[in-house]
Amino acid sequence: MSTFLSPTSRPIAICSDHAGYPLKCAVIEFLESQGLKCHDFGTHSPDSCDYPDFAHPCGKGLDDGEFDFAIAICGTGNGIAMTLNKHQGVRAALCWLPEIASLSRAHNDANCLVLPGRFITPEVAMECVKTFFSTPFEGGRHARRVAKIPLFRQD
Ligand code: RB5
Repeated sequence: MSTFLSPTSRPIAICSDHAGYPLKCAVIEFLESQGLKCHDFGTHSPDSCDYPDFAHPCGKGLDDGEFDFAIAICGTGNGIAMTLNKHQGVRAALCWLPEIASLSRAHNDANCLVLPGRFITPEVAMECVKTFFSTPFEGGRHARRVAKIPLFRQD
């Protein structure tokens, strides 16, 4: 197991639409080259499709605790992030720079990295992936804020 993916030994949930499909394939190849397993919720081809059909099952898996982390990709990242964030336990963060990926973990305890497939190079995307999985949540004042995100609190 690579050291940069220390937060989880469980499979990474991953989903995309057609616009994110090429980058999703590259991300899966990269993760698997690092010894990580992926659970691919689709789409499974570059044919036109609707991102909620793949984001909702992925978000449910994350919300139900079947997975610790997810990666989601559509053209801009916005549609798939909006869909994933309908699930109470999902904190999906749209990231296009490694610095944003780092802050999404450190400050927001993001559990889903969202990438804009049509607006990011594969090289920058992989840097975002590496940074996301190697950055711990800082807790402290950020934990207080993150606890206020859900509409229906458990406590
Ligand atoms: C698909 O053309 C595109 O609209 C979709 O991938 C995404 O960018 C929506 O938010």
